[in-house]
Amino acid sequence: MSDRTPWLVVERLRKTFPVARGMFGRRVPLYAVTDVSLAVARGETLGLVGESGSGKTTLARCLVRLETPDAGRIVYDGTDVLALGGAALRAFRRRVQIVFQDPYGSLNPRLRVGAAVREPLEIHRLARGQEAHDRVAALFAEVGLDPAYRDRFPHELSGGQRQRVGIARALAVGPECLVLDEPVSALDVSVQAQVLALLRDLQRHRGLTYVFIAHDLAVVRQMATRVAVMYLGRIVEEGPADAVLATPRHPYTVALLSAVPVPDPATQRRRIVLPGDPPSPLAPPPGCPFHPRCPHPQKDDRCRQELPALDEKAPDQRARCHYA
Ligand SMILES: Nc1ncnc2c1ncn2[C@@H]1O[C@H](COP(=O)(O)OP(=O)(O)O)[C@@H](O)[C@H]1O
Ligand code: SF4
Ligand SMILES: [Mg+2]
Repeated sequence: MSDRTPWLVVERLRKTFPVARGMFGRRVPLYAVTDVSLAVARGETLGLVGESGSGKTTLARCLVRLETPDAGRIVYDGTDVLALGGAALRAFRRRVQIVFQDPYGSLNPRLRVGAAVREPLEIHRLARGQEAHDRVAALFAEVGLDPAYRDRFPHELSGGQRQRVGIARALAVGPECLVLDEPVSALDVSVQAQVLALLRDLQRHRGLTYVFIAHDLAVVRQMATRVAVMYLGRIVEEGPADAVLATPRHPYTVALLSAVPVPDPATQRRRIVLPGDPPSPLAPPPGCPFHPRCPHPQKDDRCRQELPALDEKAPDQRARCHYA
């Protein structure tokens, strides 16, 4: 798809955390995000999927400048995001907002939810007084919440309602792009479907660009136009959603997809259960990081020694595997 004009571009992003090990508290790097490159077009939904601990939240937090990467570049609408400061950084924060997995954790428990949605309007000096009040009412309506709920506290709402508050709070500043970090992972399946439908409506009406994170390919399938699969801090496969989901190239994507139920059980793929857990990001395996768990029949010494490049395996579809 050569007409995909990149809007949000990530180049070779790396983020490590120094963590204390052993009795003397020696600090060693934990490789949370390694060499991640991505390009998202305007109005598109990039679905980012991977097991817990694969680096999704760290990447999301880097994208919105809540975390500073060690290396790499982030370019948004032609602007070098990591070089921004002062007024330009504040303007960027209005354009790109993040929605967290757990709105209960991200909402102040002592602040009524109406005030939580109003807060960003005041911080960014977008509205005050009656105008702010009216804007909050409009945002509540837009996310499908009864405006009468504005006087409630977070614990007085259901999980789905709290996530709607989290979305309204992100929308308050009129962003163009939302980074959605597992926005439905904490919700029941029926409530998940409602919140996903809301997100699709909002995207259509507001022309939003989404980076949509999930640990579940079934959820990503409902949202994404492109998919990137992360394993141990790296992108191992990336491409158009329909291609990646119909013809996954990386053995890890194949395994993830084998666990996703399909409408017609006759076409269900044989479920691939990977042995063990992902290795520690404190000591990523040499060679292909997936080799200790990879079920590919051709796996060999090359896999144990040589890191595969993220190469094009089909038009516009890349995978990090020697034998994909
Ligand atoms: N502030 C931090 N300090 C140390 N390690 C961290 C920190 N944040 C995340 N990590 C580690 O980085 C790795 C990736 O975590 P995370 O980005 O939260 O993954 P995911 O969102 O995919 O579950 C994990 O091993 C996690 O423990
Ligand atoms: S490079 Fe080797 S170990 Fe890695 S995914 Fe491909 S076949 Fe498996
Ligand atoms: Mg996470």
